Amino acid sequence: MSANNLAAANCTAIEKPNSKADSTAPAGVPVIDYEGSGYRQDFWEGQGREYEDAVERIALQRLLPPQGGRIAEIGAGFGRLADLYLGYDQIVLFDYSRTMLADAVRKWGHDPRFVFVAGNLYEMPLAAGTLDTLVMVRVMHHLADVPAALAQLQPLLHRSSTAVLEYANKRNLKAVLRWLSRRQRWSPFDPAPLEFVAMNFDFHPGWMAAKMKNAGLRVDERFGASHFRLPALKENLPAGLLARLDSRLFQIGGKFPLAPSIFVRTAASDAAERPQREASPGEVSPAHLFRCPSCAAHPLAATGPTQLQCPSCARQYGQTDRIWDFKLPA
Ligand SMILES: C[S@@+](CC[C@H](N)C(=O)[O-])C[C@H]1O[C@@H](n2cnc3c(N)ncnc32)[C@H](O)[C@@H]1O
Repeated sequence: MSANNLAAANCTAIEKPNSKADSTAPAGVPVIDYEGSGYRQDFWEGQGREYEDAVERIALQRLLPPQGGRIAEIGAGFGRLADLYLGYDQIVLFDYSRTMLADAVRKWGHDPRFVFVAGNLYEMPLAAGTLDTLVMVRVMHHLADVPAALAQLQPLLHRSSTAVLEYANKRNLKAVLRWLSRRQRWSPFDPAPLEFVAMNFDFHPGWMAAKMKNAGLRVDERFGASHFRLPALKENLPAGLLARLDSRLFQIGGKFPLAPSIFVRTAASDAAERPQREASPGEVSPAHLFRCPSCAAHPLAATGPTQLQCPSCARQYGQTDRIWDFKLPA
């Protein structure tokens, strides 16, 4: 790792599963490979990140509608945050990694409201307008093509949907101070995304705001979060207290984003022209909830209780051990 990369890595925790892009992803955009990763044990459990976890929970509790019809977490991993969604009638946990989802099934599989979906967010298998609420936390950080990702997510919203998106901020205070004191060569004011380690990206808030606008997302609220991600503070103050103090800075941190993590609450900017949600989650069959990730045909044809087929390209998709599999072969 170069000195520059090291400096950046100090600012933002590296979430590196197998530390490689999955070159088999067919959409043409590299996708990070969390298959078989120990993300839960190696990054969260007993790893001194209780403060980050607590801050993210407070931010989501403030930004997410607490209840509704259908919520989906995109890049849900092992379902760390899924208890925040229990006010919803249906909860979709979507991830590229089947093993992460299998972990989520072990924790949440007993609850019939949960739908587990393996897929690539660049080849979205959820149908347009199906989500009341969309959440994406600690995933933008891994996206090599943010505009392509947002173009897949925005159509999932209907007239009154909310999407809460989190990203890592390259213009954080630590990076600014390092740059001003010449201990870091890259400028935090340069709008271009910074890939400080393969498939780990930090983003300039202005750059991200422009991409969201281009994608048809209206930003209604922005929070800066995790201002106190410093070992000296984390070691000496209880995580809950530090998180509550941090939450007092959310709004000012949104106006002047110097925190390493930014949360935005967005909606479709053409919301008035979109249809209202039509049916309650219980009334939507898998054939209607999903679309073909290969050719976008919708609805799919149900060929069995756990089998779907695309009426256009004839691809077949199935559910095994509670997980619907929409990952396309190379
Ligand atoms: C750092 S983990 C975050 C998990 C969870 N959101 C959390 O905060 O605990 C990133 C997750 O995003 C998923 N991911 C990355 N790129 C993806 C893609 N193109 N499609 C679907 N999931 C993706 C990974 O498989 C991984 O589980």
